[in-house]
Amino acid sequence: MMTDTPSAKHILVTGGCGFIGANLVPMLESSGYAVRVLDNLSKGSTDYLEGSTADIRIGDIRDRAAVAAALEGIDAVIHLAAYGSVVESVADPEDNFDVNARGTFVMLDETRKAGISQFIFASTGGALIGNAEPPVDETSLPRPISPYGSSKLCGEAYCSSFAAAYGMSITALRFANVIGLWSWHKKGAVTTFAKAILEDRPIIIYGDGSATRDFLMADDLCDGIRRGLTANLPGFNVFHLASGREVSVAELARIMCETAGKPDHLIERKDKRAGEVERNFASFESARTSLGFSPAYRLEEALAETWRWMANEGAADPSGKA
Ligand SMILES: NC(=O)c1ccc[n+]([C@@H]2O[C@H](COP(=O)([O-])OP(=O)(O)OC[C@H]3O[C@@H](n4cnc5c(N)ncnc54)[C@H](O)[C@@H]3O)[C@@H](O)[C@H]2O)c1
Repeated sequence: MMTDTPSAKHILVTGGCGFIGANLVPMLESSGYAVRVLDNLSKGSTDYLEGSTADIRIGDIRDRAAVAAALEGIDAVIHLAAYGSVVESVADPEDNFDVNARGTFVMLDETRKAGISQFIFASTGGALIGNAEPPVDETSLPRPISPYGSSKLCGEAYCSSFAAAYGMSITALRFANVIGLWSWHKKGAVTTFAKAILEDRPIIIYGDGSATRDFLMADDLCDGIRRGLTANLPGFNVFHLASGREVSVAELARIMCETAGKPDHLIERKDKRAGEVERNFASFESARTSLGFSPAYRLEEALAETWRWMANEGAADPSGKA
């Protein structure tokens, strides 16, 4: 059940049963928001929200009737639901387009029809920008190199036009590579490296290990999302939510092995995969200026906390989607 104090602002979080939702929903609730979730459970689990008072609706973002029902009584939408894997998007671009591009269009269109003006869109930094010289920022020219990146750029394009054409307040937040609790079902480097260490298999690095990423702790990301919600900026705005620190995949593997107390864990290399960008990290200066966003976690702390959760609770992941 959604808690309903008279002053509570009612938020719909799509994809709220996934990794970021599992971190965001409790944070919103503890800030006094009443939360409803719309999720089709293709990747997430209602068990991730155990202990939350969110009103959980099982449904698909492409189903207009389900979306319209979920929007009743809502003041603002945080749209997280998507297929988030670059590699899976290369294997099946149409499915990725349908969920991410069409799904975002349906969410925006139903939100407009419901007379709700505030919408926050979970976008992406690296995959959307492509191989531009980092650090990238809001002025960098997007040139996605994966269908996933294209789907998010398409989503941002509709966010821009819906803000202009229908007077909505829409903020696209471009997330860095997010790490943290409830990420056992994810396919990113930190989760796959942690599983390899725990299962005593070699860590696989695709390419020569020089590719770089920008890792952001989920708590910091969710604080940025909450700031975007509170700011409720008029028109269309875009912000990178990132740590600003460039880390190579080889360095990440080394830090993780050390964090796990296995500095000599075996690392193997395989061919680079299509769709994955070379260097990526982003400046969060604009989010700092406009939203007061400033990540609190250092990478080593974020990895240590994520590792502890993976080692102690991750394998008991309730989603069954790992
Ligand atoms: N995790 C990251 O590092 C990262 C980085 C950049 C952007 N993002 C974006 O953040 C958002 C959340 O990512 P996440 O890491 O929590 O992913 P996730 O896969 O853990 O969560 C996504 C949730 O959306 C749900 N979902 C998928 N398709 C749906 C549909 N058609 N209808 C309803 N629900 C659906 C899934 O069941 C899942 O619970 C996504 O939009 C993703 O692209 C994530």
